[in-house]
Formats: sequence, structure tokens, C-alpha cells
Amino acid sequence: MTVKTLILAAGQGTRMRSAMPKVLHKVANRSLLQHVYDTSQSIDNNEVIIIYGHGGEQVKQALAALDAQWIEQKQQLGTGHAVLQADSLLNNDDTVLILYGDVPLLSKESITGLLQHVSAHSMALLTVNLDDPSGYGRIVRDSAGNVIRIVEHKDATDQEHQIKEVNTGILAAKGDKLKAWIAQLDNSNAQQEFYLTDVIEMAVNEGIEVKTSQPECPDEVMGVNNRKQLSYLERVYQNLQADKLMAAGVTLLDPARVDCRGGFDALGQDISVDINVIFEGNNSIGNNVKIGANTLINNSIIADDVEILANCIIDNASIGAGSRIGPFARLRPQAELAEQVHIGNFVEIKKATVAQGSKINHLSYIGDASIGSKVNIGAGTITCNYDGVNKFRTVIEDGAFIGSDTQLIAPVTVGKNATIGAGATITKDAPASQLTLSRAKQLSIKNWQRPVKKES
Ligand code: UD1
Ligand code: CA
Repeated sequence: MTVKTLILAAGQGTRMRSAMPKVLHKVANRSLLQHVYDTSQSIDNNEVIIIYGHGGEQVKQALAALDAQWIEQKQQLGTGHAVLQADSLLNNDDTVLILYGDVPLLSKESITGLLQHVSAHSMALLTVNLDDPSGYGRIVRDSAGNVIRIVEHKDATDQEHQIKEVNTGILAAKGDKLKAWIAQLDNSNAQQEFYLTDVIEMAVNEGIEVKTSQPECPDEVMGVNNRKQLSYLERVYQNLQADKLMAAGVTLLDPARVDCRGGFDALGQDISVDINVIFEGNNSIGNNVKIGANTLINNSIIADDVEILANCIIDNASIGAGSRIGPFARLRPQAELAEQVHIGNFVEIKKATVAQGSKINHLSYIGDASIGSKVNIGAGTITCNYDGVNKFRTVIEDGAFIGSDTQLIAPVTVGKNATIGAGATITKDAPASQLTLSRAKQLSIKNWQRPVKKES
């Protein structure tokens, strides 16, 4: 059995007041449409069809990597009309699932629960009970409690307006049935649209039972029509991520002030996360890691017992066990730190390896470099890796000591256990185990007098 998942995404989204199509707006740094697509990937034998319209080219371009068929709905004449556009791609024995590109948080559990209701004799409809159902299609049931039809808010009587059970729009049915029903839709209603919801009454008239289920949480079926709803769903999503982190054994000092805009390849025990920490991309974090306030961690690997102090940026970097980073440190892509490394305040590391036990504690730039083990790099050390055109590497071997305020003009190598005196400008390789200095000799001038102001 193949499941054909139709994602309706042709709506304009006027209320976003955006130059960008609505479904490209993001929750947790992933577009709304990508969320729906990703969730659909949990379904076995699933093929995705996306119905696009407004800003279609932009949507297709942004999401070109999706394994999906794209069908254009040139005019948006209603949800039933949208489904009709995919008619030729639907086979009789498919199970057809209808999802929406602007409803990002539907869970896979809700989808699998729904699909279980689909058979030759039944179709499935996801409903939800709302305290304020206004605007939504209402689920009309008979006295025995069976669904008999859906009535849209604009077509409903005062009595029907009292119904709190509403249509989420999400439904599933066998292909042969759905194809026959959508062929019969008309637009004789208040909005002169081809309503997908009219298939419910057709099903009932044919003796097909409409089985309903509800999502665990109503927020799963909330759509995005404006930026306020977008921000609401961002918070809902972030609360879920915080719950997952805590369930996995992470201490969050304030679960309302952590943001996960990606996932974790690994998550150790007893990680502690202070406030305003942002996780992006895929991170891997070991046991007993402490992360200080106001820190951004993107696509990085952090081993056991690492301490990251406040206000750091860790971007595509890896940090070995027992290292201490920050406060105010910036690890840029390909910063690879071994165990027990110390990186202090206002230190930037880029495309550099730092071996075990080395310390770069204050105000330094280390780029395009290999730093050995047990190296001590003094405050204000700069690897001058760029001549304006090309980049060159600096090599500092094990046990070297680099005095403060040193510039290393790459390409250059500092040998094992070498010492560089403070204030040096190193343009040639510094030999192992020797002291290398490059500074003018200090001299003092006796009897020197400060100039005095001339009388006018
Ligand atoms: C629809 C349902 C309503 C339900 C509500 C839930 C119908 C007739 N009504 O109403 O019962 O309570 O959703 O939110 O189905 N779309 C297209 N092409 C179109 C029209 C819509 O792709 O021609 C897409 C939109 O982009 C949107 C979705 O379908 O994502 C829903 O369309 P919308 O017009 O918002 O439907 P509602 O009037 O809210
Ligand atoms: Ca809507």
C-alpha cells in the first residue's frame, strides 16, 4: 500500500505581510513546509505531492532538495480544487493523506493514528475541540454520534455555530473513493469555493464510515496565518524541545530560555544549560558538560566534562574532554580542540587544531594553525595568516611558550619547547628549545628633558 501525502501549500498568506511565501517562514530555523515534509517521512511507503501556487518558484527553489512531486494550482479556488489538481497522480489503491504546508507541528503519532482508520469501508478525519471554534468548519454528528457532514463557519446556522468540535482539515481516504468524490464537488456555498470538506457528506451517503481521532495537543493542528501565530508556534515547539531535553537528563536553568533549532546526534548525562543558550544544527554533547549563559552552539561536538563559560560562540567546532572555553570566546569552523584545552576571553580560533593541555587564555587570534600539546600562548598573540591574497599556516610544536603580544607571520614554525619573548614579530622559523626575541633593545636616556611650552 502506498500513502500519497498531499501537502496543500498554495495559499497566499496575505496576513503575514511578507514578500516571502508563507510556507517558507520558519519555526526553529526550518520552513513550515519543511516541518510538514519531515513529519511525513515517518510514514512507510510514503510519496509526497506538494500543491503550490503563490510564490511557487520561490518555494520550489528553496526546497528543491525535497523528494516530492510539485503540482501547481494556478488559481486558488478552494481546498477541494487544490486536491483535484493532483488527481492524475492518485491511484485507486493508494491511501491519500491531506496535510497543510502552514500547519507545522502535527505529530507523527497523530498521522499514524489517523491512517489506521482508513479502509475500503471507512475514511479518517482529524478533529479538535476548541473553546472558541469561530472561523473553523464544524463537525456535525447525528444523535448516535456519527459524523454526517462538515459545515463551514460561513455556511453554518446559529445552532451549528455552537458546535465546539472543529475540522482540522487533515484527513485520509482510499484513492478510488477520494477521486470519485472530488470529481463531484461544486462551489455552491457562501465563499463560492470547492470545499474539500464536502467529501464527508458524500462518504456518509455511500455508507463509508467517517472515523475521527484527535491530536494529543490542539497546538499540533494550529496553522500559521500571521506573525503572531508564527511566534506562538515557535514557543510551542521550543517548549517541546525543552521537555525532551529535560526528559533526556539535561538540567535547564530556565526551560523558557533555551532554544533548539536543530537536533542532537548525542546527548550525555548531567548536562547543565544556563539561560539564553541557542542550539543550532546538529550537535553532539557529552556527559557533565556545563554551558554558560548567552551561548550559541552550532553543529559542534563537545566531549565529556567540558565547561563553556558565558557568552561564547561555538560554530562547527569540536572541543575535547575536560576543556574550558570562555567567557567571550569564539570558536569558528574547523576549530578542533583536544582534551584539557583552555580557551579564554576574547580569543578567536579558526581552522586550527590545538593539542592536549594547551592554553590560549586572553585576546588572541589563532587561524590556519596547528598548535601542539602543552603550548602556552600569551595574551594578544596573533597568527598573521593572510597576506591579502593567500592564507598560510602557522605551526607551533609541543611545549612551546609564546610571549604576549606576539605576531606570527605565516608560514612559520615554532619548534618544540621554544620560547618566544613578548612583543615579538616572528617572520622566520623559531628553533626548538631556544629563546627567540625580536625586539629593539630597551635603552634609557639620562638627563633627558621633556619639552616645555614656548613663551609667545
Ligand atoms: C479549512 C477548512 C475548515 C477547517 C480549516 C482548518 C475547507 C473548505 N475548510 O478552512 O473546515 O476548519 O481549514 O484550518 O477545507 N489552500 C490551497 N488552495 C486553495 C485553498 C486553500 O492550497 O485553493 C490551502 C491553504 O494554503 C491553506 C489550506 O489550504 O494552507 C486551508 O485553506 P484556507 O482557505 O485557510 O481554509 P479555511 O477557510 O481556513
Ligand atoms: Ca485557514
